[in-house]
Amino acid sequence: MIVLDQENKLITLHTKNTTYQMKVWDYNILLHAYYGPRISGGDLSYLLRCKDRGFSPNPSEAGVDRTFSLDTFPQEYSTCGVGDFRLPSIELELPCGSRTADLRYVDSQVRRGKYSLDGLPAFHGSEGEWETLSITLTDAAAQVDVELLYGVLEEYDVITRAVRVVNRGGSAIRLCSCASLCLDFIRSDLDMITFNGAHVMERCPSRVPLHPGIQGVGSVRGASSHQHNPFVILCGRDADEDHGLCYGAMLLYSGNFQAVAEVDQFENARLVMGINPYQFSWTLEPGEAFTAPEAALVCSPSGFGPMSRQFHRGIRRSLIRDPWGDRRKPVLINHWEATEMYFDADKLAAIAQEAAPLGMELFVMDDGWFGARNDDNAGLGDWFVNEKKLPGGLEALVSRIKGMGLEFGIWIEPEMVNEDSDLYRAHPDWALNVPGRGLSRGRNQLVLDFSRQEVRDHVYGQIKAALSGAGISYIKWDMNRSLTEVWSAALPPERQGEVYHRYVLGVYEFAQRLRADFPDVLIEGCCGGGGRFDGGMLYYTPQIWCSDNTDAIDRLRIQYGTSFCYPVSTMGAHVSAVPNGVTGRITPMETRGVVAMSGTFGYEMDLSKCTTEEKETVRRQTAFFKEHYELIQDGDYYRLSDPFRNGPYTAWEHVSPDRREALASLVTGPFRGAPPFLTLRLKGLDPSLRYRVNGGDSWPGDVLMEVGIPLPILTGDYQALQFYVKAE
Ligand code: DGJ
Repeated sequence: MIVLDQENKLITLHTKNTTYQMKVWDYNILLHAYYGPRISGGDLSYLLRCKDRGFSPNPSEAGVDRTFSLDTFPQEYSTCGVGDFRLPSIELELPCGSRTADLRYVDSQVRRGKYSLDGLPAFHGSEGEWETLSITLTDAAAQVDVELLYGVLEEYDVITRAVRVVNRGGSAIRLCSCASLCLDFIRSDLDMITFNGAHVMERCPSRVPLHPGIQGVGSVRGASSHQHNPFVILCGRDADEDHGLCYGAMLLYSGNFQAVAEVDQFENARLVMGINPYQFSWTLEPGEAFTAPEAALVCSPSGFGPMSRQFHRGIRRSLIRDPWGDRRKPVLINHWEATEMYFDADKLAAIAQEAAPLGMELFVMDDGWFGARNDDNAGLGDWFVNEKKLPGGLEALVSRIKGMGLEFGIWIEPEMVNEDSDLYRAHPDWALNVPGRGLSRGRNQLVLDFSRQEVRDHVYGQIKAALSGAGISYIKWDMNRSLTEVWSAALPPERQGEVYHRYVLGVYEFAQRLRADFPDVLIEGCCGGGGRFDGGMLYYTPQIWCSDNTDAIDRLRIQYGTSFCYPVSTMGAHVSAVPNGVTGRITPMETRGVVAMSGTFGYEMDLSKCTTEEKETVRRQTAFFKEHYELIQDGDYYRLSDPFRNGPYTAWEHVSPDRREALASLVTGPFRGAPPFLTLRLKGLDPSLRYRVNGGDSWPGDVLMEVGIPLPILTGDYQALQFYVKAE
């Protein structure tokens, strides 16, 4: 619910459990009054206090009033160069060369439904679910309007934010930064949690207390990155899974981002999140507009668990556009880890042959099917079938695979080119490059200038021609290097600051075209695993390959970190062969299955090499997953333990929305002598119901939650258990 109180100049957003309030203060400056647990209403502007502070200047309208300073108030969208010395949200370079921004409130409007953003991903949904608030601010000297957009998804406590900047003047101006989100707190006793890592070890949480000065994360790699995720949490020092105030902020953006927090001299905190200002600038000609990507907030008064579940519900319900809708998605088999690029049609068929009898439903042909792609030196950019490997083309292979009872999926990497390719030979200038500089290779490949329409059109035309009519049900969209030498031959020198963002807009346009031309095809995002696992891509690709690390034990950590924002249904996860290719670790097939089925679930191995016993395990796993699909994919997710603490086990749980059934999964650590007797305490059950565990003994819900299920002593490392509990 959005309440505009014109008399008191208050703007209040209520969700089911939270309240957000702004106040139009003196001289039409928009201040941030409150964001936290839901309150019944009232004017919270008593929190906005004036005091004469040394070295905190006063705006010209304040005259001799030394108690009024932008430097001391919590701002709704911070400005720059006019008295607030903290993190700016926006910087404008005016025709005179000044880099300042000074914003004043003009008006606000509320309507039912959710705003959308041209060319950018955004939450969406029905008029009954969403409300939109639009606030217009203006910079009179710059003749620039800034529209702050808010979407309220009341049921799931989601508040989205976006910003639109319009040049109303007669001369061009330049945007030097434009954040999506500014969130001020009249406190700084907060911790910041960020999700960090590297290729093959993504999204590991790191929690540090905010301290005076600036701290944060970001990416300058052109993609949101393996190294830092565009999702952060600010929380009370006492916050944990089930207690304490916390704020999650996600950015729906797949390029350079930053999320930075500052603690100021008076112990207030500010979070600013949006496109990374690194090498960013954007020229706005008279009448032109720029839109900053959407950010989404969830505040939870009771810990990370409820915050994550609200994000999961909101993302499933209102961000993802899943062509499979309510239909169960297929259990897939991918040959990549078994063959890499060294395959032909017979080799693929031999792997596929085993899959359907074991319960798999979709065969995915990965990298290596096109051009001269026999290793990673050649072929990218040439999106036509390599008939030497696949005689008869896609049609022949697809019909052979379909004859085995499997759907067919295919891998693409549209943004990239090898120097050894027809495309590069014809258009060497289509790769990002800086005149006079050498080209940095990554995995022996270059990055195509996706900011250019003709480049996208060419690649899209080839891919569309290759895939059309081939009977494909799934596409895996990969991206296997970071951007360097970011310069576009299509833009003048003064617009080179636009290339990174135009590249991302190009990626989104390409994704949108794929969606439109292949509306029934499921697209899985991928960036060397989880290098572009963000809300922006999720809008187009309902699932994303979580990591190139398929080791079940490392995956416990990767999927745990990922789960703070993103739902299970988005996390690409496969069972692979052992010893694992990344870690060399050997884990039981049971364990690999239990971990992968807490994601989109599939296999990535040569099934013909499995023993009869292993195949029987696989058959049981696929049947179990299908039986409990809805519970796992759409249930409420509970983290029962933290794998980074090296405890005796890592456990998690899926609970049905009516709380009548749950599935708890657990993986033990390395075995140690003299093991203690342990229990597993569940969460989210109805304390007053009695639940049968794995069809055997039954216990009341409160006993299962407060005391727990007695665990057997399992010998051997990394053993797995699952407990399916159902109300009687
Ligand atoms: C990186 C992906 O993450 C892998 O799954 C695989 O598709 C390779 N690229 C193929 O080059």
